[in-house]
Amino acid sequence: MSKQTSEGWSSKLGVIMAVAGSAVGLGNFLRFPGLVADKETGGGAFLIAYFISLLIVGLPVCWIEWTLGRFGGSKGFNSSPGIFHAVLARPWGKYLGLLGFIVPVGVYFYYVVIESWCLGYAWTSFTGGLDLGRDAAAYAAHFNAFTGMKGDGSILGLNGPFVFFIGVFVLNFVIIYRGLSKGIEFICNWGMPLLILIALVLLARVLTLGTPDPAKPELSVWNGLGYMWNPDDVLGGLAKPAVWLKASSQVFFTLSVGFGVIISYASYLKRDDDVVLSGLTATSANEFCEVGLGGMITVPAAYAFLGASAVAGGTFALGFNVLPQVFAGMPYGHLFGGLFFTLLFIAAITSSLSMLQPGIAFLEEGLGLDRRGSVTFLGLVTAVGCTLVMWFSKDLKALETVDFWIGDVGIFLQGTILVYVFNLGFGFERGWTEAHRGAEVGIPGLFRPIIRWIAPVYLTGIFLMFMLKNVAGWNLSFTEPRFTPTGQVLDLVGGPGREASGVAQLTAVFLVVFVAFTVLLIRRAGERWSQR
Ligand code: TRP
Repeated sequence: MSKQTSEGWSSKLGVIMAVAGSAVGLGNFLRFPGLVADKETGGGAFLIAYFISLLIVGLPVCWIEWTLGRFGGSKGFNSSPGIFHAVLARPWGKYLGLLGFIVPVGVYFYYVVIESWCLGYAWTSFTGGLDLGRDAAAYAAHFNAFTGMKGDGSILGLNGPFVFFIGVFVLNFVIIYRGLSKGIEFICNWGMPLLILIALVLLARVLTLGTPDPAKPELSVWNGLGYMWNPDDVLGGLAKPAVWLKASSQVFFTLSVGFGVIISYASYLKRDDDVVLSGLTATSANEFCEVGLGGMITVPAAYAFLGASAVAGGTFALGFNVLPQVFAGMPYGHLFGGLFFTLLFIAAITSSLSMLQPGIAFLEEGLGLDRRGSVTFLGLVTAVGCTLVMWFSKDLKALETVDFWIGDVGIFLQGTILVYVFNLGFGFERGWTEAHRGAEVGIPGLFRPIIRWIAPVYLTGIFLMFMLKNVAGWNLSFTEPRFTPTGQVLDLVGGPGREASGVAQLTAVFLVVFVAFTVLLIRRAGERWSQR
């Protein structure tokens, strides 16, 4: 078996930057603060569950992916199906890698749409168009018009938002086409430091806000931090399954762990490149951006200007309705607003690139396409998916449906599969040794039982609860869809007291077709691989 591609990272730091770029995204700056500030699950209990999940599934699955990825790469594979084929050496092995293609590409369908909102908002803010005065409704109306939330298909056509979308979509593929080190690594090497710089500027601005309205001394940035970070009812919170479910799903999402991104990135490493310290570094960078930056900027600022009620409207509302209003109320607000949305855009694009690379790798090694062919192919597939998401834009229904099935169900399943494949298919002891080859530091022994027993039990337990709630319709109060501007819960199956929407079903049909199509591709790929 020969190594098929000669692609690789150009430096050790480069791969860490790329993984960190993938990890640091909208999850850090929009989703995490939204979850912490949400009083249903938020406060101290959520954070405790979050940090426990980070330790018992986040880091372990991260190391598993880095290890299996580097191993698969040494056998000449760079995609999840290929790497699983190499790791398991069974005819069915490659199918377990299915979601390592589906999840990143499927998340891209809507992630890049949100990414284009960020760029659009940055532009509008810098050019002064986002200062809509003190009227909250004006900001909501702007958001509705920008995202097409008011009516299906209202966004498609020659208008501002759609032009931003096309631009962002094309930009992603141009960068991907340039390749691993000249495209992704290059953008992340510049993007990540810039992102941190902008975030620090914004953080300094927010922490010096003090009490914007002297007539309302209780509305201060410090009380905003307190609102977000002070624990209340920790024990009550930890008793809710919802808290654990949300916390662990956030950990997967934000680390880009469990669904084919890192496994693919790590496959371009050399056989003896360190994976233990690299994985730990990328994880720490993500947590710094999530807890230290993401958790300190949006919510305290919104609270100081508008109070607790403004903070409670969900992640989209916070980012795109409330914050523009906050910026409008401060000197040089259009600059700070522009910077904030630029920050979101940079964070998002380094993440969306990582959703494309696993797909490109699979098309190249599975179908034997060259770079141009695989970029074109993936461009077409994602264009269809994005069009669907944008066409059925009313109340963001399609976006939330795809997010639910792929971003929630898919991510969990694949993360769980990875742990089992590592422990049982590859062999835990063999894997532990493999992880330590070339390692700059050792994994603490505490992680042996965690990877071997605790992670699989925890993940399986969560997954069962999740299925019971979401598919069988049991009310364990798991979660409203991830980015919910409307607070509506989607239901594809139409359980008691809830109605299934036609759009949701149509999107579900599309997803089924997408999965079936991928299964066929993997079968084709298997024929090629068995001839190698
Ligand atoms: N980690 C990113 C964030 O926090 C999201 C992300 C990057 C992702 N790559 C992914 C999600 C692949 C799903 C699939 O925003």
